[in-house]
Amino acid sequence: MLKIVVITVSDRAFRSEYPDQSGPEIKKLIDNSEVEAEVSLILVPDEDPEIRKAITQNIGVDYILTTGGTGLSPRDITPQISREICDLEIPGISEMLRWESYRETRFAVLSRGFSGIKDKTIVINFPGSLKAVQLATRLMLPLFEHGTKMVHGEGH
Ligand code: MTE
Repeated sequence: MLKIVVITVSDRAFRSEYPDQSGPEIKKLIDNSEVEAEVSLILVPDEDPEIRKAITQNIGVDYILTTGGTGLSPRDITPQISREICDLEIPGISEMLRWESYRETRFAVLSRGFSGIKDKTIVINFPGSLKAVQLATRLMLPLFEHGTKMVHGEGH
């Protein structure tokens, strides 16, 4: 059973200006998939201490998936915090997300999302939009179990 923590990073969702759709969507797609996982949701604003705390306090789970705060605005800080926390980068995951997303929208290249490993936890930044998380979750579903095995040195 994988443990997956989804962190939605959004000022406006945090202030309840609109409901967080993306976090629950990721959970729904994983829950309805063949992947056996326990998915929990966290919502934080685009503030360094909150994002950092939400990630670091959950190191130890199998996956931390963030959604939002990957763009180019000054308040988009999720990728740099994720990079600082992680020991290693997994460039292929973010390359795949941007590459596949580019087929949907050219704006995909404006997402600076980072993927990496801290201890045995894989941290992946998804963009914030509903469409983006639908695609990103679908792309990750076949990889979750194998990624965790590899991080634990279990090989192929
Ligand atoms: N990727 C997919 N698959 N679908 C999308 O709609 N939106 C893009 C991009 N990636 C998008 C996507 C847009 S418009 C932006 S600005 C960036 O993600 C960053 O989004 P974020 O700041 O919400 O993380």
